[in-house]
Amino acid sequence: MSKVYLTTAIPYVNGAPHIGHALDYLLADTYARYQKSLGNEVRFQAGTDEHGNKIYKKAEELGQPVESYVAENTQKFRDFIKALGVDPTDFIHTTDETHMRRCQEIWKKMADHIYLDSYEGWYCDGCERFVTQKEYDDNNGVCPDHNKPYTKLREENYYFRVSDFKDQIRQAITDKAMLILPEFRAKEMLALLEDTPDVSVSRPVSQLQWGVPVPGDDSQVMYVWVDALSNYITVLGYPDQDISDFWPASVQFVGKDILRFHTIIWPAMLLALGLPLPKTIHSHGHVLSDGQKMSKSIGNVVDPMEVLDRFGLPAFRYFFLRHIDTFADSDFTWEKYESAYNNELANDLGNLVQRLANLCKKQKMSGIKNFQPEQDNEYRALMDSLYFSRALDYAWEKVQAINKEIDDSKPWELAKVLREAAAAGDEAGSVAATKKLESTLESLATKLLNVSYLLEPFLPETATKITEIFTAAEIAPPATPLFPKNI
Ligand code: MSP
Repeated sequence: MSKVYLTTAIPYVNGAPHIGHALDYLLADTYARYQKSLGNEVRFQAGTDEHGNKIYKKAEELGQPVESYVAENTQKFRDFIKALGVDPTDFIHTTDETHMRRCQEIWKKMADHIYLDSYEGWYCDGCERFVTQKEYDDNNGVCPDHNKPYTKLREENYYFRVSDFKDQIRQAITDKAMLILPEFRAKEMLALLEDTPDVSVSRPVSQLQWGVPVPGDDSQVMYVWVDALSNYITVLGYPDQDISDFWPASVQFVGKDILRFHTIIWPAMLLALGLPLPKTIHSHGHVLSDGQKMSKSIGNVVDPMEVLDRFGLPAFRYFFLRHIDTFADSDFTWEKYESAYNNELANDLGNLVQRLANLCKKQKMSGIKNFQPEQDNEYRALMDSLYFSRALDYAWEKVQAINKEIDDSKPWELAKVLREAAAAGDEAGSVAATKKLESTLESLATKLLNVSYLLEPFLPETATKITEIFTAAEIAPPATPLFPKNI
């Protein structure tokens, strides 16, 4: 049994969750379930990023105390994670006192690589990021992600000497000791690494009050990303406790927009602390809405609770884990969502379960005894490569193959032969027909149980139901189909 540590990006709590926020949690949860099914011990962190100007300014705008604003939105994320069927082992708030104290300890441990200097340049409030003159020029002074002009900063800040660690980071990316997924992004990150100057890691209190105070200098507050990235280890107890059971992380799940923080600043911080680098950084694509980036001004932000309400949790997990490609940007539309529900969940899977269970029930068959899932190497390889949408495509091919096998083997015709033999008093014929029909049904049920095992990390509730039906003392279809139509 090995120990597996999975992390998710901690969202800013400057609003309610949108459907894009589901990805980190669903991907990590799927992998966590898969790892548990292999007998491994999984620790799974989630949390909320509660500091920084973006949040402070939003609370001010609303005339609300920042503490209560943060608490309200944090609760929405907690509710959301629960509604997704995700149950992390650890949940961190960056305004938590223990986290803040541990961040200060981390700062002190990195002190040899930190120096004071003055900064004059550009900043994006949306990204909470310092922007180079080149980026400013390339984007004509407006952040393409947030559609907001960069702001000019002139201030004294502490700097972190990333250059002390560039060689080690380059090496770790190149020899994949720190694997970046999808692999084509590694090249992008190597290019960014070369261009990365020393990073400003604090802001004057006059500019940013809502953050972790820099130890030994009351006039400065830590840059929100230093505080946020530290969460991955403070949640394990660092530096108060030995974290070597779970650190380095097995996989850190993040969106492509924040990959640069996780492959440059974060590894540099870890190296400054003398800690090993994460084994894998997994960056997923973005969820688009009607072909566009979601934005309040376009008015295409989709509320995940509404999507969950439409067809329930398994449908939500299914769509976001299969039809949102794990590594590429993909589109959510209500039309696609409804079509996936009706054609795939209701028709392909729901009908299959209903049909097969009905045929078994007519024969008064008992479920498969002592069922043991088969090893499926192709599936394992896809899961191990963390390409979850492909692994789910693969499982679905198996669902379709069982449907085809039922159509081809026509068990209802075997049942007819049986009825005719019985009516004619043909005992030998009846026995032979029963044997043939029951062995056909048993083989189909076994295949369905194997598929259910493949689906388990993605659709745990559905997999449990299928397993219960086909291993019960008497097989019977569920009173309500797994995915009722026209809801
Ligand atoms: N607070 C930082 C993360 C700090 S991690 C130490 C942040 N927050 S965020 O709220 O903007 O994003 C949280 C996560 O949601 C990130 O992984 C981000 O990539 C992801 N997504 C935000 N919008 C998204 C989509 N439209 N689609 C998919 N994921 C997206 O960045």
